[in-house]
Amino acid sequence: MTTNPPATGGPGLPQQRRLVTEIPGPASRELLARRERAVARGVSNILPVFITAAGGGVLVDADGNSLIDFGSGIAVVSVGNSAPRVTERVREQVARFTHTCFMVTPYEGYVAVCEELARRTPGNHEKRSALFNSGAEAVENAVKIARHATRRQAIVTFDHAYHGRTNLTMALTAKNMPYKDKFGPFAGEIYRMPMAYPLRWPGGPGQCAKEALDVVSTLIHTQVGEDNVAAVIIEPIQGEGGFVVPPDGFLPGLADFCRQHGILLIADEIQTGFCRTGDWFACDHEGVVPDLITTAKGIAGGMPLAGVTGRAEVMDSVHASGLGGTYGGNPVACAGALGAIETMEAEDLAGRARRIGEIMLPRLRKLADTYPIIADVRGRGAMLAIELAQPGSLEPDAATTGQVAKACHAAGLVTLTCGTFGNVLRFLPPLVIGEDLLEEGLTILEDAFASV
Ligand SMILES: Cc1ncc(COP(=O)(O)O)c(C=O)c1O
Repeated sequence: MTTNPPATGGPGLPQQRRLVTEIPGPASRELLARRERAVARGVSNILPVFITAAGGGVLVDADGNSLIDFGSGIAVVSVGNSAPRVTERVREQVARFTHTCFMVTPYEGYVAVCEELARRTPGNHEKRSALFNSGAEAVENAVKIARHATRRQAIVTFDHAYHGRTNLTMALTAKNMPYKDKFGPFAGEIYRMPMAYPLRWPGGPGQCAKEALDVVSTLIHTQVGEDNVAAVIIEPIQGEGGFVVPPDGFLPGLADFCRQHGILLIADEIQTGFCRTGDWFACDHEGVVPDLITTAKGIAGGMPLAGVTGRAEVMDSVHASGLGGTYGGNPVACAGALGAIETMEAEDLAGRARRIGEIMLPRLRKLADTYPIIADVRGRGAMLAIELAQPGSLEPDAATTGQVAKACHAAGLVTLTCGTFGNVLRFLPPLVIGEDLLEEGLTILEDAFASV
């Protein structure tokens, strides 16, 4: 049985899980067959249900199934899909004009987004921003700016890092398959350091911060030379690499090291930013103030927008026309961002993220007490994960991770996996999700563990 898809999404959609067919249902399967004939195989789908409407904490598919969303389109629709303040501003902007190119004739929305970025990002220093289309493009530009400002070339990145899929960002990204395999040669002057990964740190979590800082500073000294390094780039909580949360002290220590040596610290907050972790930015947690910060994903409620924000003197070291792009800071995307930021402020979505963590963490920890295959429960706010390994060892268990995810999907819960070893289940619900739906999603997860 199929039902007519709802004409509009947003928070007005019934906030319920409802399965009327198997997942994927016949309408999605038909679209999937079309997709296979028209869309490149390299662009894959985690859960091949075709969405017709979404809002709050649910996604509705072409068969009329309503699924609980624990993915937010990979940490994008933190304000919920088709959030009212976003759609209203976007609609208004589309009716006025859709594009002029900010580099040709400017418009206020771009400036207003840069003002918001200056206000919200860590640090009270004078800042400037430049806007782009995607996270990878923002990272590329942060590296360009850092090299230009310092007149140095080396960029330091970390194990388990993910910074995108363009040539330079592939070089910064750690994981070979599927992101890098046979796509080389990669950009040069990139140096990879061990990440402070408490669960897998050889000396144990208690020693992780200090030992990791020692190793990183020694390797930079011996293998690169501090005064060759333009920037260290790090995700304050790693995303695709497995939601790795560095131990307290590691990020402030890294920031101190960078400051001592005239190295710029770039915080890649593309996944962690805009209230996801319970603060406006994950760096706020320990009061770390990066020199440059990259943002995207949650910034614009689903519209494609990204930014690089940094110290005025660093950003303005670049000559006129040295930065930009045809679509960067598109007026419709900027309107979406202003609506999303207004929503975060008005609805205290940072507080909502903390509340989501308070609800989810105890249940995830209880699950870990029941199933020894769960080696770690970690994360902050509404960016949470569990890592699966063979009991009694740290041997990653990607197969069971995949089975649990599939069982969740079949029961109508959208969950994602991640991790260098593919053995991490990650949870990124929209920050506006209702608590009943959140609890129901956790019950589905518990049932999925019981079933595999
Ligand atoms: C931390 C981080 N940096 C960069 C990117 C790349 O962003 P985009 O996919 O918009 O290019 C991502 C995407 O997942 C990310 O999580």
